Amino acid sequence: MRGRGGKLKNIRDRTRALHPPRPETPEPLFPPIFISTAFSYVEEAGSIKSYRGKPIKYGREEHPNNLVLEYIIASLEEAEDAVVTNSGMAAVTAALMAVLRPGDEVVIPYEAYGATHRALDALAAKMGLRIKRVWPSAEAIAEAVSRRTRLVFTEVMTNPTLKVVDVKGLGEVVEGSMLIVDNTFTTPILVKPLRLGASAVVHSLTKYVAGHNDVLGGAVAGPAELVGDVWEWRRILGTSLQPLDAYLTTRGVKTLHVRFEAMSRNALVLAEFLAEHPLVEEVHYPGLSTDPYHGIARRLFLRDLYGGVVSFSLRGGGEAAKRFLRALRLVFPGPSLGGTESLAMLPAESSAKYIPEEVRERLGIKPSLVRLSVGLEDVDDLIEDVDAALKKAHA
Ligand SMILES: Cc1ncc(COP(=O)(O)O)c(C=O)c1O
Repeated sequence: MRGRGGKLKNIRDRTRALHPPRPETPEPLFPPIFISTAFSYVEEAGSIKSYRGKPIKYGREEHPNNLVLEYIIASLEEAEDAVVTNSGMAAVTAALMAVLRPGDEVVIPYEAYGATHRALDALAAKMGLRIKRVWPSAEAIAEAVSRRTRLVFTEVMTNPTLKVVDVKGLGEVVEGSMLIVDNTFTTPILVKPLRLGASAVVHSLTKYVAGHNDVLGGAVAGPAELVGDVWEWRRILGTSLQPLDAYLTTRGVKTLHVRFEAMSRNALVLAEFLAEHPLVEEVHYPGLSTDPYHGIARRLFLRDLYGGVVSFSLRGGGEAAKRFLRALRLVFPGPSLGGTESLAMLPAESSAKYIPEEVRERLGIKPSLVRLSVGLEDVDDLIEDVDAALKKAHA
């Protein structure tokens, strides 16, 4: 044991409790959790700097646990740099703040995460933005883009009906404007948007990347200059990911590949089961060879996997869907997705509520639509639970 400048002598009880000698630390296999607001910093002498050249002195700006995770996210997305935030929405808003100027035009599909639309509406009211909402397809986006368009924001696989937007080539079509891709549903395992011409990638790390339904987080990855602007917004808004959450997410990302593959396999089995079920009207899952987005997904995705989310509408309308949720015994009725435990929710009642009703109908978001996030349980147990709940909902 040794103190920072040697063992402190002649100090009193109260001070001794606050300034113990520090243990010499062996090199740990896994980076430890740095629960500390401040790191030693002396003007002129400086401090240890992060790989991006910023002093590590105050936790809201830089801390070691975020740096480890940022390095991993940047390398998975093949980006120059990445910053992590304390939720996906903190990442989305920081990216919007970094990119948008008053009077800008933004093109975004109707079917994007509801809070992203709300963030754009809130910014539009303050900054006089023009928001063009379009059908979720590369063609509709390309048609809407004009010389005034500053930003195109799209998800690769839409929530909840899992339409696949062909982001390959979209970078060229939207030339002159920025393209931000939300890669939450597809993850860098299926799509690397920066390779395809995107200006930046955003993530809700809460979902597949952290993957255990126990931590909220977000990320923005892209060129160093843009990520530097996002870093500045994170500092201003105070939305840094906390050390324990960064630790948990770093632990989660280590198994992203195996979890994503296992969830995708479970989801495909469930989608096939649901597609044959007499009490099910329609199934959305791009992994099904009969799905209208199967072809685009096969061309676009880096692997023959389609993620853990399956959506389906029940016969019997919205009331039957509510009864279905209440009847589930194993699948947990709740929002979120991409974690180890299976979850189910009704998008028309929550995340898709902001979409005008007639558009919602055209998109296939019926009151009877259930979004199922398939976890890592034994798929036969999931099938038994879903089958029993479907029967109870119709009894
Ligand atoms: C595609 C997508 N992007 C962003 C978010 C926001 O992430 P968070 O809930 O971590 O703030 C979500 C949340 O469900 C999402 O589904």
